[in-house]
Amino acid sequence: MKATIYEGNKTFSVIHKEVEAPAKGEVRIKVAYSGVCGTDVHIYHGMMDKRVSIPVTIGHEMSGTIDAIGEGVSGFAIGEKIVVRPLDDRGVKPSDKGFNHICEDLKFIGIDSPGSMQQYWNVPSFVLHKLRPETDLKLAALIEPLSVAVHDVRRGELKAGETAVVLGGGPIGLLVAMVAKETGANVIVSEVNEKRIKKANELGLNAVNPTKIDLVKYVIEQTEGRRADVVFEVAGVQPALDVMCEVAGIRGRIVMVAIHGQKKEIDLFKFFWKELKLIGARVYEKEDYEKAIALITANELPFEEMITDVQPLSNIQQVFENIDKNPDGMKVLMDCQS
Ligand SMILES: NC(=O)c1ccc[n+]([C@@H]2O[C@H](COP(=O)([O-])OP(=O)(O)OC[C@H]3O[C@@H](n4cnc5c(N)ncnc54)[C@H](O)[C@@H]3O)[C@@H](O)[C@H]2O)c1
Ligand SMILES: [Zn+2]
Repeated sequence: MKATIYEGNKTFSVIHKEVEAPAKGEVRIKVAYSGVCGTDVHIYHGMMDKRVSIPVTIGHEMSGTIDAIGEGVSGFAIGEKIVVRPLDDRGVKPSDKGFNHICEDLKFIGIDSPGSMQQYWNVPSFVLHKLRPETDLKLAALIEPLSVAVHDVRRGELKAGETAVVLGGGPIGLLVAMVAKETGANVIVSEVNEKRIKKANELGLNAVNPTKIDLVKYVIEQTEGRRADVVFEVAGVQPALDVMCEVAGIRGRIVMVAIHGQKKEIDLFKFFWKELKLIGARVYEKEDYEKAIALITANELPFEEMITDVQPLSNIQQVFENIDKNPDGMKVLMDCQS
């Protein structure tokens, strides 16, 4: 079989190796598609070399079918369509209070252990979610990032008729905006990249550029002064942190989706003055996956538009080089069987 290997120093290689039998408690997946995540790009840039054990196969946004079933695994059949929720929570402790998805000893499969950018992938059976026979496997590679968005909207307790402002129109921000709109909210996306604004518009979203218009004034106008009920911070930059407390209305909820690696400045006075709430949101829980699977299977939202390129596994090096050259694209999928 074909597998890709990240070797450090911005280098991937493609190797041929024996297909392995699944160990006890595991299944072997025939991987259909594996999406490139922002985290994979960070790994490629060497920013996570201390965490990944080089050489390693990365990838965690995938879809596939069951190819072999290990000892002790029941409830799955060969050929069944599945996705992986790449959270290894085997180290969960009572002090994690049942929140397995953010347990202290959580391991992320595809970063802390081998991932999906290969033809066949062995994983413990507890990470599997079944798809429906009619679920499109290409769209299903979006289930992992879509589950992030579903979780974020759920954490924000967004309701129909409320106004949501999404700061950042990258892949995660646009999926958050799509889920927020599907919830029945009025959604405003703020994005600085004109190509991404165009993409948001193609997805039927209202997107504006905060470097060209006064975003706070615009949100005030759009809401007759009420401002946003929920703000999603999905940009990960200081200007977004500056504006999030301004666009949030009285008792607004701010959902922190972006990963801020360093301490940043936030106007805490606004939290006091408007009784704002700041809510952390990290990955997803089982129910978020099930909702994302239902959304992808129904295929009533423009998910197809999110996939900007599909490339064979053997092109992995070019794929990552191209993402650096053209960072405007949305989701690139690796076709793991071609
Ligand atoms: N919470 C989680 O579990 C989780 C999961 C996945 C990703 N993330 C994080 O979510 C964030 C978004 O992910 P992504 O893959 O979409 O990243 P991305 O970098 O592709 O998207 C960020 C977007 O913000 C835009 N932006 C920059 N400055 C802005 C500004 N001042 N106002 C508005 N937009 C601005 C950028 O042009 C870009 O399109 C990242 O920080 C990522 O690490 C978190
Ligand atoms: Zn991801």
